[in-house]
Amino acid sequence: MTDTSLRVLLPAEKIRARVRELGREIDRDYPDGVYLIAILKGAFVFLADLARAISRPARLDFIGISSYGGGKTSSGEVKLTKDVDTSIEGADVLIVEDIVDSGITLSYLVHVLEQRRPRSLRVAALLDKPERRLRPVDVAYVGFRIPDEFVVGYGLDYAEDYRNLPDVCVLESAALK
Ligand code: IMP
Ligand code: MG
Repeated sequence: MTDTSLRVLLPAEKIRARVRELGREIDRDYPDGVYLIAILKGAFVFLADLARAISRPARLDFIGISSYGGGKTSSGEVKLTKDVDTSIEGADVLIVEDIVDSGITLSYLVHVLEQRRPRSLRVAALLDKPERRLRPVDVAYVGFRIPDEFVVGYGLDYAEDYRNLPDVCVLESAALK
């Protein structure tokens, strides 16, 4: 076994309160409703809570992107592994992401989706690590800005583990550094 420990950074209650606030902001900004596109797999928990915090009509879809292999650092290569099921032309699209780190994933996805002529295209991210940014990304709705630490839980994984933790935790491990 490797020597790992988890430190709670954002407890579930704090996340719940912030997601409710984001829902109210989105309600205000999208009176006609919104098309939520969540990035698999990490955003699935955030999407489930955010969608229920929105009272306007909402449609949901999922997109798959891989950029991160099994480890903690980006390969810098991004590819679409699953596309959305329907056209987004003319729709008010909100991309739902778990965390913005280098910005490579989102800048790629924004570029891809813009070519499909949505009426509007914005990003909601639960977490933002601005210190790590390599590509500029305009994130309209940010849950929390966090320091440059590797976090898991609330959908976020390390090598597919920890997604089911209700809190966002810092993964501390001598072996993983
Ligand atoms: P970016 O392309 O570097 O912005 O990376 C974004 C993706 O990397 C996210 O969708 C996450 O899947 C993953 N990621 C970045 N930072 C973390 C982290 O601290 N914990 C877990 N996954 C992360
Ligand atoms: Mg991931």
